[in-house]
Amino acid sequence: MIDYDVVIVGGGLAGCRAALEIARQDSSLKVALVAKTHPIRSHSVAAQGGMAATLKNADPEDTWEAHAFDTVKGSDYLADQDAVEILTREAAEVVIDLEHMGVLFSRAADGRIAQRPFGGHSRQRTCYAADKTGHAILHELVNNLRRMGVQIYQEWYVIQLILEDAQAKGVVMYRLLDGAIEIVRAKAVMFATGGYGRVYNTTSNDFASTGDGLAMSALAGVPLEDMEFVQFHPTGLYPVGVLISEAVRGEGAYLINSDGDRFMINYAPSRMELAPRDITSRAIAVEILAGRGVHPDGTAGGPFVYLDLRHMGREKIMSKVPFAWEEAHRLLGIDSVDQPMPVRPTVHYSMGGIPVNTDGQVRSGVDGLIEGFFAAGEAACVSVHGANRLGSNSLLECVVYGRRTGAAIAQFVQNRNLPVINEQHYISAVEQQIQALLDQPGNIRIGELRQNLQDCMTQYCGVFRSENLMQTGLKQLQKLQEQYQQIYLDDQGKLWNTEILEALELRSLTIVGQVILTSALNRQESRGAHFREDYPQRDDRKFLQHSFASYSSDGIKLEYKPVAVTMFEPLERKY
Ligand code: FUM
Repeated sequence: MIDYDVVIVGGGLAGCRAALEIARQDSSLKVALVAKTHPIRSHSVAAQGGMAATLKNADPEDTWEAHAFDTVKGSDYLADQDAVEILTREAAEVVIDLEHMGVLFSRAADGRIAQRPFGGHSRQRTCYAADKTGHAILHELVNNLRRMGVQIYQEWYVIQLILEDAQAKGVVMYRLLDGAIEIVRAKAVMFATGGYGRVYNTTSNDFASTGDGLAMSALAGVPLEDMEFVQFHPTGLYPVGVLISEAVRGEGAYLINSDGDRFMINYAPSRMELAPRDITSRAIAVEILAGRGVHPDGTAGGPFVYLDLRHMGREKIMSKVPFAWEEAHRLLGIDSVDQPMPVRPTVHYSMGGIPVNTDGQVRSGVDGLIEGFFAAGEAACVSVHGANRLGSNSLLECVVYGRRTGAAIAQFVQNRNLPVINEQHYISAVEQQIQALLDQPGNIRIGELRQNLQDCMTQYCGVFRSENLMQTGLKQLQKLQEQYQQIYLDDQGKLWNTEILEALELRSLTIVGQVILTSALNRQESRGAHFREDYPQRDDRKFLQHSFASYSSDGIKLEYKPVAVTMFEPLERKY
């Protein structure tokens, strides 16, 4: 057993920023950061377009209140407004702090940090590093962590959260290199394990985004909040689904259908291509369903629309969004200087997650907290995004709430003793779990079951949902879950056995999928990213509430918690 004051699971922005804050607040604390990849390969590195903050460099009239209003309206009024106030008030300060750490933000002509327009934001407030913002920030954070003495366990997969009597005590982790199993015991455990895009068959997320932290929490009895809200980013490159940043539209690109029309005029006339993502993704889906999509041969009726950059010119494209150009060129051979890119919505972000308060402490239910358990970033639900996140608010959330959670943890662990853990019990249980996977005499390949699960979620719980569709999806998902007992592994060894990892991740995907579908089925209204064809209106009377889904092998129990409305009364949402 290895002892630390704090163990943080997840090497992305939220985990790294929390670790840094703990080290800054009390350098005597022993902090471990465990990541299933190298930290700078965490999915945060793929964040592109930027990070919102009212620096007022591009727009002197901007205010944190305006940013808060845009965020709450964008959330379709489901965001907790006390949490949004913290997010937007602290935004400028955390950006400047990152700059002081060495992050190379793009510059305006006068040398100040540049800011660009982004979807759903009424002001030009998104700070950026070309279209590689996550890359720029994460590299600096990891460099800083190493200087501060945080111990990084990279390519260790956390397999179990040790939670006993409503107290988090540590984690069990598995080393990919050689199959070693270790317990990390700690006074505080933090999950910053990211999202679950791989529950779906087309996503902008990396292969590691399998919802492990969410599934482990659910298995330990922690409820998951607002899991029905799955964000589809409007511009996934067709057919692969990788992200073409919203920054491209922020810099002026158009969305056009097979008739050559800028169709957003019919959906969000005042914001056009910079409407919030839920509205833009639905608009693209409607265009495609109505036969105004495009086929690869250029004829009408196909599965994508065009993102047209041609009027922007080579110099602007290459200086502002070079990565978007490179992706389309590398993956499809398209030169977007003179050819439009094929795009369609792709699963991008999880608005829901592990419920936390504004200090990152995990909630045990609608009331109450779990001792010693913290979470931040995409894995958590604080909830600043409600039913639909605005672009460039997620990096911000990771940094603001990573920092706050780190500060809260540094306080929490003072003068506390390490918990008592029955080490052998946990080691044996995990050894048996892995051996059982290796011994399973199944006849279904992991990849086949995963693909079927992803297809099921995409077909039955996508952009448009209904009772019939989701009931069918749940039944199919249950059958797929039963088939988990029939998967088999070709590799029987312990050295770099990636099949063990894939099998464990598949377990996470099935649990998260079931929670998403059940939460979506129970929300009988349309709000933000959750659109029900059978309940097309928002219903504040019944559903101005967060869902809390508690998982057990007998099924999922749902409870609801009212939204914190502290600044802005809910209004009809128009753009
Ligand atoms: O489109 C993008 O660059 C994504 C940004 C975000 O999700 O915040």
